Amino acid sequence: MRMVDLIDKKRDGESLSAEEIKWMITEYTKGNIPDYQMSSMAMAIYFQDMNNDERAELTMAMVHSGDEIDLSAIDGTKVDKHSTGGVGDTTTLVLAPLVAAVGVPVAKMSGRGLGHTGGTIDKLESVDGFHVEISEDDFIRLVNEDKLAVIGQSGNLTPADKKLYALRDVTGTVNSIPLIASSIMSKKIAAGADAIVLDVKTGNGAFMKTLADAEALAHAMVKIGNNVGRQTMAIISDMSQPLGYAIGNALELKEAMDTLRGEGPEDLTELVMTLGSQMVVLGGKAENLDEAHSLLQEAIDSGAALDKFRTFLSNQGGNPEVVDHPELLPQAQYQVELPAKESGVVTEIVANEMGIASMMLGAGRQTKEDDIDLSVGLVLHKKVGDKVEEGESLMTIYSNTEDIEDVKSKIYDNITISATGETPTLIHTVITE
Ligand code: URA
Ligand code: CA
Repeated sequence: MRMVDLIDKKRDGESLSAEEIKWMITEYTKGNIPDYQMSSMAMAIYFQDMNNDERAELTMAMVHSGDEIDLSAIDGTKVDKHSTGGVGDTTTLVLAPLVAAVGVPVAKMSGRGLGHTGGTIDKLESVDGFHVEISEDDFIRLVNEDKLAVIGQSGNLTPADKKLYALRDVTGTVNSIPLIASSIMSKKIAAGADAIVLDVKTGNGAFMKTLADAEALAHAMVKIGNNVGRQTMAIISDMSQPLGYAIGNALELKEAMDTLRGEGPEDLTELVMTLGSQMVVLGGKAENLDEAHSLLQEAIDSGAALDKFRTFLSNQGGNPEVVDHPELLPQAQYQVELPAKESGVVTEIVANEMGIASMMLGAGRQTKEDDIDLSVGLVLHKKVGDKVEEGESLMTIYSNTEDIEDVKSKIYDNITISATGETPTLIHTVITE
């Protein structure tokens, strides 16, 4: 086979066979296909798209390009959840112990990632002693015994995606539905998921800014999952403003614990219950969504969800007392209130810019080597649709420096107060087909 022939084919709008896609991905991973040919192919796909068969083949070719995690020693259906990313997105921290409490096994492999705040692991590491450096045997044993464990990313998962994503990043080909969908799905499948629940975000803080784009991506991923034998569903949720109140590592961990106790923010709670119900049904622990919802509610009301979180923390070296004593979490030196400059209704809190403000405080990393400050961030007191009086606090800024004038102006520039306004819709669409 010659790569140039495949490029010609795709450029002219023809489809690639399973064999051709497998060959291309295998050879590209080995370094036998140069980046200039692969980038030409990515651009051809960008303009000519891929049909459903091609998308499924591309996904599985990337899955097979490296290690695949074998979770077959864990009893039950392993349901993984993936979010396309947002600001202050604390859902994983709540969902994992919550669905584990009703018997769905959660075997989570998590990375450290770049971004406005740290990843799930960073947030968990704000608990003294907690670590994800556990052996694969312990990981599997813990999930079998207690239904929940988190392990750091290890091994060589989807190297083809790693290479191709980096190439797309510098060749104007990130924004292609077949390429994004296969990229995300390949990583979930290689990590051992039997079933997948996707939270596709839309709005200015999301990767997909418009509802139409988010829906197209969600449909593409659901189709791929179902075509390769992994039951998959997606919801489209709002990320035009930050989710919940907290943005920052320890702050979000506290928010997650509040939510597990039934005292969390309304939007975060609703999203968690929606995603969680789907996970419980896919995991075979309930017949339908209503039953799943009741099981989750019971786990919160009885304290079982919070107990699961305690067990999980102590299984992995963390101090479970933080659950009842959040003051044991890293604390910022300064807490500064940010007063509203006028009265009215909050009509905009630009999610992405709030993320950047937390990053300026030190909550996130720009490069992999950066240290992050687990204690800093923002806690909103007002969300879009809330009334506010002049002088009333919009949020508390948690900082380790007094010099936060630039952070304050960043925030003021990105919050709008008007005469009237409404709470945005949180969950736009549920896609199962
Ligand atoms: N996230 C991914 O993992 N892959 C993409 O291609 C885009 C976003
Ligand atoms: Ca939050």
